Amino acid sequence: MNARSLLADAESQLAEAGVASPRVDAELLLAHVTGVPRSLLLVAARPNELQHRSFTALVEARARRVPLQHLTGSTAFRFVDLEVGPGVFVPRPETEVLAGWAIDQARGFVAQSFNRQWEPRVVDLCTGSGAIALSIVHEVPGAIVHAVELDEVAFGWAQRNLSGTGVDLRLGDAADAFADLDGQVDVVVSNPPYIPLDAWESVAPEVRDHDPALSLWSGDDGLDAMRMVEATGWRLLKPGGVVGVEHADAQGESAPAVFAARWSDVRDQQDLAGRARFVTARKPR
Ligand SMILES: C[S@@+](CC[C@H](N)C(=O)[O-])C[C@H]1O[C@@H](n2cnc3c(N)ncnc32)[C@H](O)[C@@H]1O
Repeated sequence: MNARSLLADAESQLAEAGVASPRVDAELLLAHVTGVPRSLLLVAARPNELQHRSFTALVEARARRVPLQHLTGSTAFRFVDLEVGPGVFVPRPETEVLAGWAIDQARGFVAQSFNRQWEPRVVDLCTGSGAIALSIVHEVPGAIVHAVELDEVAFGWAQRNLSGTGVDLRLGDAADAFADLDGQVDVVVSNPPYIPLDAWESVAPEVRDHDPALSLWSGDDGLDAMRMVEATGWRLLKPGGVVGVEHADAQGESAPAVFAARWSDVRDQQDLAGRARFVTARKPR
C-alpha cells in the first residue's frame, strides 16, 4: 500500500473514533514511523512491511484515544522538544503563552537592573515534564531556574528533559517547596491542576484516561492548587516580584479573585485563541 492510501484509510479510521484532527494525526504517525517529514510524505514515503505494521498498530492505538504524543514519544513546546509518555501531563500549546509571559518578565528584570548583569531567579511550580522551566533556561540566558514536581513518575520525565540544563529540579509538594528561597525569587510561574472534580464528563478521553489524575483535578471549584500557588508565590517572591498561573477558561473571574486581597496589578490574560487563560499579579514593594 502506498502512503496516499495508508493515510486515507487511517484518516477515516481516526475520524470514526472521534479524533479531533484525524488527517494531521495520521500524517504525524506516518512521518514518525518512516522518518520522512510530514510535508514530503506523499512524494517520498515508501513504507516497507515493518513500517506498515507499525503504522497500523499506532493508528489503532490512536483510535483508542491514546494521546498522539504518547505514541510518538515527544512533543514540541515553544522552541524545545520534550520527551513525554505514560505518567506525565502532555504540555499544551495554550501554556506556551504563559511560558512566554514568564520569559518576558525574567528578561524585564534583567533590563531594569543597574548593570544588566543581574541573573533573574525563576521558580516553576508543578513542572510536570519540565516544559516551562526548560523554555525559560533556553530563552533567558543567565536565568537561575528552579522547578518542583510532586508525582514521582512525572518527576522522572522532568529529570530526563532537564538533565544538563542547570535547572534545580526537586521532588516534592509545591506547598512547602524551596523554603531556602523565601523572599529571593523574581518570577513564580505555574500551570497547576485546575479542573473541578465534577467536570469529569466534559473532559476528552485522551485527557481523563491518559493524563495523570494529579495533573488534572483540583477540588470542588478547581482552584485548590491556585490557592496553594498564591500562598507559595507570596512566600517565595521578593517585593516587586511577579506570579503567573494558568487556569481554565471558565475561571477568568474566580482565579484573579484568589489574588485580590494582597497583590497588586492583578490581571487576567488570554491565550492565542482569545480565551481567559492565566492570572498574573505583583507582590507589592
Ligand atoms: C497540569 S500539569 C502541568 C505540567 C506542566 N507545568 C505543563 O504545563 O505541562 C500539573 C502538574 O502539577 C503536578 N502537581 C500537582 N499538585 C502538585 C503539588 N502540590 N506540588 C507539585 N506538583 C504538583 C502534577 O503532578 C502535574 O505534573
